[in-house]
Amino acid sequence: MTEKTAGGEVRLSGIGKTYGSFTAVHPLDLTVPQGSFFALLGASGCGKTTTLRMIAGLEDPTTGSVFLGDRDVTGLPPHKRPVNTVFQSYALFPHLDIYENVAFGLRRRGIKSVKKQVGDMLDLVQLGDFAQRKPHQLSGGQQQRVAVARALINHPQVLLLDEPLGALDLKLRRQMQLELKRIQTEVGITFVHVTHDQEEAMTMADTVAVMNGGRVEQLGAPAELYENPQTTFVANFLGTSNLIEAEVASNTGGEVVVTAADAKLRLPAQRCATAPTAGGKLLVGVRPEKISLAHADDAGSIADGRNRFTGTIADSSFIGVSTQYVIDSPVCPELEVYAQNIERDPRLVPGARVVLHWNPEHTFGLDAGQDIDAGVETVEATP
Ligand SMILES: Nc1ncnc2c1ncn2[C@@H]1O[C@H](COP(=O)(O)OP(=O)(O)O)[C@@H](O)[C@H]1O
Ligand SMILES: [Mg+2]
Repeated sequence: MTEKTAGGEVRLSGIGKTYGSFTAVHPLDLTVPQGSFFALLGASGCGKTTTLRMIAGLEDPTTGSVFLGDRDVTGLPPHKRPVNTVFQSYALFPHLDIYENVAFGLRRRGIKSVKKQVGDMLDLVQLGDFAQRKPHQLSGGQQQRVAVARALINHPQVLLLDEPLGALDLKLRRQMQLELKRIQTEVGITFVHVTHDQEEAMTMADTVAVMNGGRVEQLGAPAELYENPQTTFVANFLGTSNLIEAEVASNTGGEVVVTAADAKLRLPAQRCATAPTAGGKLLVGVRPEKISLAHADDAGSIADGRNRFTGTIADSSFIGVSTQYVIDSPVCPELEVYAQNIERDPRLVPGARVVLHWNPEHTFGLDAGQDIDAGVETVEATP
């Protein structure tokens, strides 16, 4: 190893796991750079925990190898790997106070003077004042921070977190997301975080791997995944996408023109995940917040060069910062539009005829051979 912390890079090489004839994780190649905050995101059952457990050594891979830095650790038991795991069930020792819970890993290794390290760790998770309390005297979020401190005191090079915030209510979860991010920045070690919550993954991680059915469908920075989804699953699972079934009229290599019902839409060829050919099909995607609505009476005021078509407001929900509209149109049923709440046009009510329009640059194209509804609002099951 060339540097002290070089073991913090996690490299999975062809790692896969089958249970009998069922494949939980298809052979997977993945590199998590040293010091990064990496999220494995996907619906319940897609293989996140299995992948994490193979990194931890809690599960033997059926195929492939796990490397930490340059070291092949595939055959090593969990306690021989420079890795610690934080689970959703914090599993604190109920009879020990917070101080002793955090000190546990050091004491087990026979370290006598633990005071400074435990003190530093409690400061890191901002629980210095709670050292003498028992776990049941803390809130869920505080208990989770104790679990993080207890794992970090062993100086792992990689911290694995499996749905660590799953048991917390929404507000606390938001706070803890920022808190975990701060801790990761401060200690600088690699975090691999498993979650089914797309907002959580996007808020916290530098890089997100979106998993579906035991495979990584797409990997990238949160904004990259959101703006340039490559599959319908990623487009629908991360936020909301309007996907319009269209026919390709032409592709110059720079610009693609498609038709859907009576609408002619344009998009950049480079924003297509597939190579569209004239006469073929394409799923044309646009995010709800990129679309503007104009009352049909004002259609003449829309600038040239924008993608546009006419529809009818089917539903509108005012949610404070924005109004969310559902628009019906022959081009696409139940299209979603989010309008920021700046000035509201009182004519934009259900039943109104409207023109939807947006910058063609904000349009992406996906292979039409896929399930258009993949990744849509899967019921949030507890992991
Ligand atoms: N020990 C096991 N035996 C058989 N099937 C398992 C076992 N562990 C997990 N699975 C299956 O593997 C799939 C992936 O599980 P898991 O990695 O826990 O998913 P996730 O963490 O993404 O919810 C699931 O369908 C699950 O039922
Ligand atoms: Mg899981």
